[in-house]
Amino acid sequence: MLQLEKTTVENSLRTLIDPNHGVDLVTAKSVKAILIDGSHLSVKLELGYPAKSTIDQLKMSVEQLLKTLEGVETVTVDITVKILSHAVQQALQPKPNIKNIIAIASGKGGVGKSTTAVNIALALAAEGANVGILDADIYGPSIPMMLGLSGYPESVDNKTMTPKMAYGLQTMSIGYLINSDQPMIWRGPMATNTLQQLLRDTNWVDVDYLIIDLPPGTGDIQLTLAQQIPVSGAVIVTTPQDIALLDAQRGLGMFEKVNVPVLGIVENMSMHICSECGHAEAIFGEGGGIAMSEKNKVDLLGSLPLDMSIRKYADSGAPTVISEPNGRAALIYKEIARKTAAKLALKTKDFSTRFPNIVVQNT
Ligand SMILES: Nc1ncnc2c1ncn2[C@@H]1O[C@H](COP(=O)(O)OP(=O)(O)O)[C@@H](O)[C@H]1O
Ligand SMILES: [Mg+2]
Ligand SMILES: [Zn+2]
Repeated sequence: MLQLEKTTVENSLRTLIDPNHGVDLVTAKSVKAILIDGSHLSVKLELGYPAKSTIDQLKMSVEQLLKTLEGVETVTVDITVKILSHAVQQALQPKPNIKNIIAIASGKGGVGKSTTAVNIALALAAEGANVGILDADIYGPSIPMMLGLSGYPESVDNKTMTPKMAYGLQTMSIGYLINSDQPMIWRGPMATNTLQQLLRDTNWVDVDYLIIDLPPGTGDIQLTLAQQIPVSGAVIVTTPQDIALLDAQRGLGMFEKVNVPVLGIVENMSMHICSECGHAEAIFGEGGGIAMSEKNKVDLLGSLPLDMSIRKYADSGAPTVISEPNGRAALIYKEIARKTAAKLALKTKDFSTRFPNIVVQNT
């Protein structure tokens, strides 16, 4: 009988594409060990993103694939998840207690950025990550309403704020701190300072992903935030309307300018699902998200339908991912969340904490 070689196993694993990021297991550095014991093969994989709902499927695919190799009788596959911190803008340092900050942005308001942000956060948590959400939308903080939270945050030391909890998410919102009946007029520096403070003065506890719901648009405030907050990746939410797509394109440009990788775009309200009979209609046009993603060489992470239930659940304080965790829309949010995290996992890791800081002094 043919003696099984490690390289044979490795070459076989090279043919298996991880659907969450589209790269094979070897190239993605997911293969941690290959142990051959006669005709028994044991493989250890490590994923850099949370994937509770697809890990069993992956395990089965790997087992099935490796069983076809000549000389293999039995296969054990072990998959673990280890979420690491990824690089941020060069001049910045990641925040302690937050491995990765992911900014959710949109070219303009009303496209469903907050709804998408809160559902992605909940979906990442459902997939097994420790997640926080920072509502930085000074113009219309809506995360508290969407999670059924209100009131001033508590403090144990009168210096830092304790994040308010909902469904396992750590949350902080500008909306907890200001009176929503009296809309504030924000000037640039005041807005960015306030948001920096919210980020810094909140007692985030071991967060794998902090989702930031940015103020909509691509003006000075947004640009300054994209520059000053240590972000590992951004996601852009758009609707399929031409005008929204143009705005989204400006959003892409903004992150490019400050060297933050755009992990992908989410097309929201792409199809209208009739709540009477369930038939689908592309009222804002079709194919816009795909076309934009191809033109700009950025991934389309997923498309959400315009679905009354998405609005209803968001308004009720228990978003779709919580209210109908196995429904069609929730599964799309979970896929978007896994893809976002998986694409981030392929990016450069943050090494700033492993090397001493070298300070060059001018004398
Ligand atoms: N896919 C969707 N289907 C139906 N309603 C949606 C969807 N996404 C968002 N909405 C609703 O559209 C409105 C605007 O969404 P929101 O997330 O607040 O937008 P933004 O944060 O971009 O201003 C809200 O009432 C929300 O419930
Ligand atoms: Mg919003
Ligand atoms: Zn209908």
